[in-house]
Amino acid sequence: MRQKRVVVGRYGGPEVITVIEEEVPAPKAGEVRVKVLAAGVSLPDVLAREGVHPETPRAPYTPGWDLVGTVDGVGEGVTGVEPNRVVASMPIHGCYAQYVCLPWRKLVPVPEGLDAAEAVALVLNYITAYQMLHRSAKARPGQRMLVHGASGGVGTAMLQLAKLAGVEMFGTCSAQAAAVVQEMGGIPIDYKNADFVAEIRRLAGEGVDAVFDGIGGESLWRSREALVEGGRVVTYGFQSKMSGGRMASRSEGRHPFREGGELVGFVIRNWFKPGRKSMVPYSIQWMMRLRPKWFRQDLLTLLDLLKRGKIKPLIAERLPLEEARRAHEMLGAGGVFGKIVLLPNG
Ligand SMILES: NC(=O)c1ccc[n+]([C@@H]2O[C@H](COP(=O)([O-])OP(=O)(O)OC[C@H]3O[C@@H](n4cnc5c(N)ncnc54)[C@H](OP(=O)(O)O)[C@@H]3O)[C@@H](O)[C@H]2O)c1
Repeated sequence: MRQKRVVVGRYGGPEVITVIEEEVPAPKAGEVRVKVLAAGVSLPDVLAREGVHPETPRAPYTPGWDLVGTVDGVGEGVTGVEPNRVVASMPIHGCYAQYVCLPWRKLVPVPEGLDAAEAVALVLNYITAYQMLHRSAKARPGQRMLVHGASGGVGTAMLQLAKLAGVEMFGTCSAQAAAVVQEMGGIPIDYKNADFVAEIRRLAGEGVDAVFDGIGGESLWRSREALVEGGRVVTYGFQSKMSGGRMASRSEGRHPFREGGELVGFVIRNWFKPGRKSMVPYSIQWMMRLRPKWFRQDLLTLLDLLKRGKIKPLIAERLPLEEARRAHEMLGAGGVFGKIVLLPNG
């Protein structure tokens, strides 16, 4: 049987993305072959394509952090995995394909009857938002917080989860996204036409209890200013280094440690700043490696919330696998509300 798979041949812009045809892979011992129903597209995919994400694989490689699919075949030694069972996983790369072989221990069962695109949005985006909210910021009802990029994949997840947790959430976004942010339960702040620190002071008095900052760079100090004493900045990205969907530096090749290292530098410099304001980094991949039980437990909690209708991911676009390049162009251009999802098997 033949399949289609997306390949990044070298690091660079969306033009490095191609689709190849090949034989469907056979599962090795301990592996399960998954027929991919939905694969998430995210900014970390774009950063890896540029060669700058800490998890950038060596080129050529297949992008795609997360998937939802059905069990299509099992390798030697795999027991108790039913054919056609719906599962989710986050292998970090490799999901932009029609079939993917994964270690069976990395699969999480997905309840029957869920929309695959909505379910896949939970894996990278909602776990990131959930763990930052509950594990990094230890949110309590009645608190006030701020998330940057509130209309994006992680941002919209954060708005819904904050509302469920009884947290009042402010969200920076562009003017066109204000209505979406409001609908998702947030209080929009137009980051292009207003100073967000001044807006927080106007709307929340002394400041907020936590800021979730995926923008990075000097934005981290501004986010710190928006905190009350004792507040916390959770830093989880470096979007400020991007311009028009490309890394502004346009450096050639693979640099997996540079941006992450700079981010840690900000955390260390924060220790020497006056005032009781903390800054902590968050990384879903390190959380998954160091606390695999939390990853599983949090995904099962989120799948249950989806099943009970308590959350509803905002899906910006559902695209065929062949449109992976366009998906990256759209994400790079900005103005996407929610999550882009590829549907590799139609
Ligand atoms: N550490 C982790 O474990 C982890 C996990 C997942 C994602 N991330 C990071 O999370 C961030 C968001 O990822 P995503 O997939 O959700 O991206 P996304 O869907 O593209 O969302 C990003 C959003 O940020 C907005 N934005 C851009 N510049 C901004 C600024 N200066 N101020 C406020 N908002 C701004 C964009 O809005 P406009 O287009 O309207 O400008 C867009 O809505 C990225 O930095 C990513 O690397 C980290």
